[in-house]
Amino acid sequence: MKILFIGDIFGQPGRNVVSQMLPQLRDELKIDLIIANGENAAGGMGITQEIAQELFLSGIHVITSGNHVWKEKKIVDFLKIEPRLLRPLNYPPDVPGNGSIIIESNKIKAGIVNLMGRTFLSEIDCPFRTGMKEIERIREETSVIIVDMHGEATSEKSAMGWLLDGTVSAVVGTHTHVQTADERILPCGTAFITDVGMTGPRDSVIGIKRDIAIRRFLTQIPIRFEVAKGEAQFNAVLIEVDSISGKAVSIKRIQR
Ligand SMILES: [Fe+2]
Ligand SMILES: [Fe+2]
Repeated sequence: MKILFIGDIFGQPGRNVVSQMLPQLRDELKIDLIIANGENAAGGMGITQEIAQELFLSGIHVITSGNHVWKEKKIVDFLKIEPRLLRPLNYPPDVPGNGSIIIESNKIKAGIVNLMGRTFLSEIDCPFRTGMKEIERIREETSVIIVDMHGEATSEKSAMGWLLDGTVSAVVGTHTHVQTADERILPCGTAFITDVGMTGPRDSVIGIKRDIAIRRFLTQIPIRFEVAKGEAQFNAVLIEVDSISGKAVSIKRIQR
């Protein structure tokens, strides 16, 4: 099974590049399942129902997210009714939405789990314990499992990869928006990368207009962020998984 995981889609430039690239990539790489992190899809922060639907129409099967998913207030209602849009699983009980899904694509069942780290982010429930429990449940149905570990600290993402090695097909990091060059298959068969990167404006500070980001750092005055303009990049990883054992066969970075 070939799975494409797209790094954080940032604003209109990110959405445009996704709709341009996906039809061609899907044919070229023979992809069975497409997952994308969409926490920055709406104006660089959050996601709306309309944008999520547009991304599903473009061929994305499941959208994961992170800390920014709550930005658009109305998304809470959509999270309650759309199981293909995930928010991190380890929010406290009773928080609306789902943090995992099992879907079938090309007759293969795959579980997708969205977790979020706590280092330099909100103090939510433990992603490690919550993740392990959920993976145990999903493994009763399928051994093909992809984990989006949304986190700021590389150490936390790395620890999650090692903890889950052998129990899931892949652990991929999101949130920091810069693709790391450490993709590999861990000894027990789990594909891992610290960060998939960002699909959005290239000449930017992680998606934001450069001069605004620089001014903020120079003055420490809160200035409203704006999505950068100009050429957009596409960051993703292609993971090949043995659909019977769930073990990863390969992981390849994609940068276009
Ligand atoms: Fe992000
Ligand atoms: Fe994030």
